[in-house]
Amino acid sequence: MTGKVTVVGSINVDMVTTSEKMPKQGETILGEAFHTVPGGKGANQAVAAAKLGADVTMLGKVGEDAIGKEMIANLQKEKVCTDYVEPVTGISTGVATILLSGGDNRIIVTPGANLKVTPEYVRRHEKVLRESDIVLIQFEIPLETVEEVLRICEAHQVPVVINPAPAQKLKKVFWEKATWITPNETERDELFDGHTFSNKMIVTLGGEGVLLPGAETVIPGFSVTAVDTTGAGDTFNGALASSLAAGKPVTEAVSFANAAAAISVTEFGAQGGMPLKKAVMQLLEKGGPYAEK
Ligand code: RIB
Ligand code: NA
Repeated sequence: MTGKVTVVGSINVDMVTTSEKMPKQGETILGEAFHTVPGGKGANQAVAAAKLGADVTMLGKVGEDAIGKEMIANLQKEKVCTDYVEPVTGISTGVATILLSGGDNRIIVTPGANLKVTPEYVRRHEKVLRESDIVLIQFEIPLETVEEVLRICEAHQVPVVINPAPAQKLKKVFWEKATWITPNETERDELFDGHTFSNKMIVTLGGEGVLLPGAETVIPGFSVTAVDTTGAGDTFNGALASSLAAGKPVTEAVSFANAAAAISVTEFGAQGGMPLKKAVMQLLEKGGPYAEK
């Protein structure tokens, strides 16, 4: 069974400069290479879920520029439905400036058109949300929109995964409306003072694996050579949503997502290295106890 996943989120272009070391404050260094690749937490998560076989619809906005067109074409190439993605005038497509050095990264995101993903826009697409098996959302769009999505989904009893990245404070009531919350450790510490307060929190621990809801069990990571960890969290969230939408229990979905994220870091680019289902199953069979039957 596949499931319907709707992602409400950002679409960016990633401008990636790779260098041997990170520049220090006030320092100028020579880079090694420059690449322009598709990114944005929303789009990345949509692509990850689609590659793993989910039926994915993207809700988001781009600028009315060449990059926006390219980013939409990329989503379509990856079989993500872009019927409701809107180009907006007078503002650029979201841009992420990324410094990448030895697998480590530093990122500045300029949201641009992602700021125009308003509550009014998601209300217009209530039907898409209502017909989803799961809705996935992050914090690169206005927080009022996150709130509106939670409200609409609650009304229709559609489960919502909130990936609280980049970390921004939300009222407690919104955490209460979420079905699953997926911070990494930094976000967990910033947003919840280090508490894994509820049985809906799934904490990703980078190469160390993932902490299951209830915070007592760690699903260990895999030992892979990290070329680029950009988008590893996005692969995790897209994979988690695809698996939950297909009706899998949460432990199995987390284990699947953990393996998918491990594979994604072995290639350059946020969306580069995102695996197909077969590759994830192969890794799980070799190295994990929760393989799908
Ligand atoms: O999570 C990785 C993403 O964060 C990058 O693709 C970049 O666009 C930023 O949004
Ligand atoms: Na990658």
